[in-house]
Amino acid sequence: ANDGYKLWLDYQPIERSELHQTVSELFSGIFFFGKNPSHEAIKKELELASQGFLKQAPKYSADRFQTTQLWIGTRQELSQFLGLEHQAKIKALGEEGYWRGSIIHEGKSYYALIGNSPVSTLYASFDFLKSIQSNTFDKDTEKTDYPKIKLRMLNHWDNLDRTVERGYAGFSIWDWHRLPGYVDPRYIDYARANASLGINAVSLTNVNANAWILREDFVEKVKVLADLFRPYGIKVFLTARFSAPIEMGNLETADPLDEQVRSFWKERVDMIYEAIPDFGGFLVKANSEGQPGPHEYNRDHAEGANMLADALAPHGGIVIWRAFVYSHEIDEDRHKQANLEFEPLDGKFRDNVIVQVKNGAIDFQPREPFHPLFGAVKETNLGMEFQITQEYLGQATQLVYLGTMWEEILMDKTYRPKPSSTVARVIDGSDTEQNLTLMAGVSNIGTDRNWTGHLFGQANWYAFGQLAWDPDRSAAEISEEWIKLTFGQKPEIQAKIKEIMLASHEAAVNYMTPLGLHHLMGRSHHYGPGPWVEGGRADWTSLYYHRADSLGIGFDRTETGSGALNQYANEISKTWSDPKKTPEKFLLWFHHLPWDYQMQSGNTLWEEIGLHYDKGVKTAREMRSNWRELEKLVDSERFSHVDQLLGVQIEEAEWWRNSSLLYFQTFAKRPFPDSIEQPE
Ligand code: GCU
Repeated sequence: ANDGYKLWLDYQPIERSELHQTVSELFSGIFFFGKNPSHEAIKKELELASQGFLKQAPKYSADRFQTTQLWIGTRQELSQFLGLEHQAKIKALGEEGYWRGSIIHEGKSYYALIGNSPVSTLYASFDFLKSIQSNTFDKDTEKTDYPKIKLRMLNHWDNLDRTVERGYAGFSIWDWHRLPGYVDPRYIDYARANASLGINAVSLTNVNANAWILREDFVEKVKVLADLFRPYGIKVFLTARFSAPIEMGNLETADPLDEQVRSFWKERVDMIYEAIPDFGGFLVKANSEGQPGPHEYNRDHAEGANMLADALAPHGGIVIWRAFVYSHEIDEDRHKQANLEFEPLDGKFRDNVIVQVKNGAIDFQPREPFHPLFGAVKETNLGMEFQITQEYLGQATQLVYLGTMWEEILMDKTYRPKPSSTVARVIDGSDTEQNLTLMAGVSNIGTDRNWTGHLFGQANWYAFGQLAWDPDRSAAEISEEWIKLTFGQKPEIQAKIKEIMLASHEAAVNYMTPLGLHHLMGRSHHYGPGPWVEGGRADWTSLYYHRADSLGIGFDRTETGSGALNQYANEISKTWSDPKKTPEKFLLWFHHLPWDYQMQSGNTLWEEIGLHYDKGVKTAREMRSNWRELEKLVDSERFSHVDQLLGVQIEEAEWWRNSSLLYFQTFAKRPFPDSIEQPE
């Protein structure tokens, strides 16, 4: 049986005898060059791995030459065994880069795991273990790697009472009540999992923040986590509630230019650094969805962020300020608000501020065009915010592999600041001058035994980590890797699961919101269809987004409509203002079109909508029949878990298709295409 707790770090016995032989030799003489907490973490990992791979404990050598097979240490520690050229090559990979490969010394060959720092030595070790697990380890091939993005971060939306906003995998893993005295061993497994992906930062608390986390007694609890995570290279951040000076500082204002407010923050920050000398900084949601912020005092986002940045700067801390802002008063189209508020502030943020932007301008929809802020500013550090938790994507009942969606966004051309720019080149800083780079993912982790609720939620955590490390990696390749680590080597398993994963995102888009439709989920919980949702604030109704009427459907964001399309580079806004030249996947995102509008296929828009919804359902069914072919190959516990959930997914897909099509038919007043299963 397998309950999924071990994630992708499930070190199974090595089957191939040649590899078994090589690995048992390496594990029979391990020598650590230095002593430090990250090396201790490596030791623990090697022990787990050795027990799993070989069913025996590893052996350490006291002498680096005699019986040693495996050398572990930093570049500095091993410098005498590396030629100058080799040293320079490794050094060039940066603080977090590593090299692993064979070193010949006085006629004897050693396999070495070398990082430019203790933490990157840990990264080298995880990569080494992964290559064994996936049966690709080869002593004679060298491997180097380094991350392209500086901060690779999880954002937990965890409340202090352990509920999790948009969390579908149980309660928060942070047991605030029993901290600091009781340290759940799960924290270490959490750190191992993240470090194995190169995730190096975590914000522990909800962006809809509670000021209490800044209290001394809470900081004492946070310190325990920070101390545990440090050897794994993970820095801790907290969310800061902008009104904290009022709520806990007894002040009458939280005005960022007020001296008392500034000293409040400075004192809080100094207190935190006293406990946690490498504290990362604050993540802030301000003036969005009712959260307090600088606008209450007629100050702008830069004034708010800079005030916190000034308090953090002396300690090397940073502020991550979110660009997810919207309110119905600013513009008739919510799409435009972030650019309206942040473009004029370009150049006004301190160097230690990163503006964190969701991948799209609305809100983590099944498919969105990239956010028009990417490429629109020149002197602002921009970070990417993806959502790993599947708020709008079936939550924890549906299998939706998000790697493909993120890849699509990262590869999108922004045409700014350079004609060749893509979202990836903007956020990794290569086409911009930004010195701080960030990719954040809203975590899908909870107290469920398998961490993520749906077993395949683990793949999204994994894929996020890999793309944050290297935004150019292919989502297909990442899925192959995850499958091998999670389900083993059998080629039939590989092929089937990969097929399921790669089809899953497009399927969800099709049965939920095809052709650029968006935000049609049930009100506020965002689960299941709700294109009919009305009442209350305009931007909380579904009609606001789909705009269906007797003539047609879609949101006109061209010049005849809200004009949001103009927030993109000319290359996009000019071309896409013509529906014929707009990618059909975004058609109704930017255009309101007649039901009989002719699509590239020759079908009418109405027919094509029907075909897409129907195709989504059919793919969901294929996903399950593919999965069922694995019944004999996957252990029964995981087989049944996924199989049952795929059953729910099919029902939900049908529910989406039937209800959405029947609802839209009340406007279109046309029959469904004959070739689809008729909704009822
Ligand atoms: C969405 C989500 C909220 C969350 C918000 C945010 O609107 O539904 O729960 O607080 O995003 O990102 O701040």
